[in-house]
Amino acid sequence: MSRLIIVSNRLPASLEASADGSYSLRQNVGGLATAIGPYHKAHRDCLWIGWSGIDPDQYTDEELEKIRQAYRDRRCIPIFLSDEEINGYYAGFSNNTLWPLFHDFSHEAQFNPDDWETYRKVNMRFAQVIEPLVLPGDTIWVQDYHLMLLPKMLRERYPKASIGWFLHVPFPSAEIFRSLPWCREILEGVLGADLVGFHTTDFVMSFLASIYRLLPELTVDQDGLVHMPDGHRAAVDAFPIGIDYNLYARTARSSLARAMRRGIEESAGKNTGHRYRSSVTAEGDAAAEAGDRDATWWSQHKLEDLPELTLARSAASSIGRKENKVIVSVDRLDYTKGLPERLKAFGRMLEKYPEWTGHVTYYLLATPSREDVESYRRLKSQVDELVGQINGRYSLLAWNPIHYITRSLSIKPICGIYAAGDVALVTPLRDGMNLVAKEYLACHDGREGALVLSDMCGAADELTDAFIVNPYDIDMVCEALHDALEISPDESRARNMRMQARLKVRTASNWCTSFLNILRQVTTSGMSDK
Ligand code: G6P
Repeated sequence: MSRLIIVSNRLPASLEASADGSYSLRQNVGGLATAIGPYHKAHRDCLWIGWSGIDPDQYTDEELEKIRQAYRDRRCIPIFLSDEEINGYYAGFSNNTLWPLFHDFSHEAQFNPDDWETYRKVNMRFAQVIEPLVLPGDTIWVQDYHLMLLPKMLRERYPKASIGWFLHVPFPSAEIFRSLPWCREILEGVLGADLVGFHTTDFVMSFLASIYRLLPELTVDQDGLVHMPDGHRAAVDAFPIGIDYNLYARTARSSLARAMRRGIEESAGKNTGHRYRSSVTAEGDAAAEAGDRDATWWSQHKLEDLPELTLARSAASSIGRKENKVIVSVDRLDYTKGLPERLKAFGRMLEKYPEWTGHVTYYLLATPSREDVESYRRLKSQVDELVGQINGRYSLLAWNPIHYITRSLSIKPICGIYAAGDVALVTPLRDGMNLVAKEYLACHDGREGALVLSDMCGAADELTDAFIVNPYDIDMVCEALHDALEISPDESRARNMRMQARLKVRTASNWCTSFLNILRQVTTSGMSDK
């Protein structure tokens, strides 16, 4: 079997400096690292090349050598990029041009020729770093939108190499794609590969439609093979990525995740009835004991008399609710994830169904991302403001509707959050796949837990037993959320079992091996033709 070289923008591990000056690497838990990581680990000759994620100007030569060595020990080759390169290639062309355009956010896309030039040069840098490492017969697998010119650059150097490229985000319609001034170069860059992969057949169709429209000199046959005038041909197909189901199911049962789940359930008053009332009373007692000058307030006001508590309690008892509920979501703070729309839908539900007041708590984990890009900073302010508005409007003395966490958490606490969620609200406006939906279901292995899922992500093609919504339709999300909170445990378990059965089979490692198997097949048949 040929040796595999993986190339991606980010490496599967990030650098951590210790106080004693040594460097260690922390394994990333992103979809790519989880999907290809096990293959990389299991094959001792497999190399992974990517951006180090650090600014080399901040380190001495000696330190950089230590960092290189730490990566080499894991069979990773780090590429160091200057500030200027990061601005043009990563923050600029990748995240300020391609990312918004590919997610149907054309209005956010900036077309800056300097960024394009830097993107081209950095793709070339990757090609130069890879060059001395390639041996005859190697397979090179390039990942994602950061490196769309690389397959052609590698093809020019290694006409007989086996080259794959996979896009982890959506591919837009030809109408949107052709607004990119460098659309032809990008298509030609990708078509240097022998196999071009997407998450869904819709993205495959959009890609082929762009070829018809923008590169009419190429022909596409009925098997989806694109033929170039020089005789090279590229196969195009869909490979929906999965997750490591057992890892998530197992991690959700770890003691840390269980403690996290218990903490969330307790703070949301689950299994304890009207928790806000007892804690408010306790606060009052404590204040009185401490001789607080407001203690008279507590004693003068029978808490039951507060109108919002009365409303919440009577409405809750009128529908016979026994248990408080928890909603969860886990995202990068990215405008494609639909956070403002989702918050509005949650706010609308509290308005339309006041019986949920005091009885449903939304744990919103939104990890800041790409903070150098202006649109991400704007989004953060918008989300901060909406959370503030909803909490300001609906909070009771000891209950906040939203717990808003903007930190980066590791896999165990994240699994604890998933496991605590009676409902997961996963409503991106556009997403290639969305692994959060799959991870939530794995963390509810064999048990109930309802998924409200956007129709605008690849995962919706597979997870058809979820409550599927149009994320732009605030009323629809509000109703689906209400239904998901009310679903019976039996129905929820039955739906989940069907979806979980699929996720257990279509795992991340299956995705990796099926892409590589097809790449080997198309390369072998292609080479025999040459
Ligand atoms: C998406 C992309 C990945 C990227 C991730 C996080 O999932 O497809 O390639 O790594 O977002 O974004 P970041 O810019 O932090 O790498």
